[in-house]
Amino acid sequence: MLVAKILDGKAVATLMKEKISTKIALIKKSGKRAPTLATILVGDNPASLTYVEHKHKVASTLGFNTLDFKFNATDKESVIIDKIEELNADKSVDAILLQLPLPEKFNTNYILSKIRSDKDVDGITYPNIAALALSQDGITPCTPFGILTLLLHYKIPLCGRHIVVLGRSRIVGRPLALLLNNTSVNATVTSVNSKTKNLKKICKSADILISAIGKPGFITSEYVKKGAVVVDVGITRVKDDKSPKGYVIKGDVDAKSVEKVASYLTPVPGGVGPLTISSLMMNTLLLYKKHEECKA
Ligand code: GUN
Repeated sequence: MLVAKILDGKAVATLMKEKISTKIALIKKSGKRAPTLATILVGDNPASLTYVEHKHKVASTLGFNTLDFKFNATDKESVIIDKIEELNADKSVDAILLQLPLPEKFNTNYILSKIRSDKDVDGITYPNIAALALSQDGITPCTPFGILTLLLHYKIPLCGRHIVVLGRSRIVGRPLALLLNNTSVNATVTSVNSKTKNLKKICKSADILISAIGKPGFITSEYVKKGAVVVDVGITRVKDDKSPKGYVIKGDVDAKSVEKVASYLTPVPGGVGPLTISSLMMNTLLLYKKHEECKA
């Protein structure tokens, strides 16, 4: 019986981080300022707090400067926009990350649109998404960038292959479908959502199945073609009183079932998650380089 090989996102992320830290050490040695990432967190969503803390920790370890701004869910939208505009104007800041989701009362599209596209480290402002849709240069959203890096690392064939992407979120599903469809990849992409008819049949026709829907264990072997590559982007916290944290992280894929039919599978944790972080670091470095080139 086929047992899927693991696509080790953690190991690929470590390779990326090693390259980044070497580059930052060289920058610092030459006497230049360090690349700087600013994060903005609004409200007290526990998962978001943990993610942002982790981003700062990794960034500091690699040698980046980091700036950390926190706002209350009760604060006015204008206060957050004032901070974004201040960071847009600050020449020592290369990258701005507005942690999502924002508390419900906020207009996410409007606030995001205030981030200068050349500081948009998530690649999700209108100009960067338009560049992605048109196969032009821009900043690629972190999770899609990480997934593509992983597939390329393992030499998974993409050109002409049928890739099914489940989910159409702003930061994963939609930009991932655009990235895989663009002229540097040339995959045949089907984007599916909760209203899609014949979902199982479509998923089962995929050479590569990528799930980003946040439904623990949703993808079973019934959704997977024999020998397909399966990428699990789900990271849902599920209550578990036996765990010291009170919860465990679950992916969208029922690994026990899928590993019997897939050729490759990403684990959760240790798959896509670490690549999102290392891609964020890579994007910060890319933005820094653009800013330094402009100065020269
Ligand atoms: N929330 C969860 N993941 C992300 C991410 O990659 N970027 C932003 N801005 N918010 C997130």
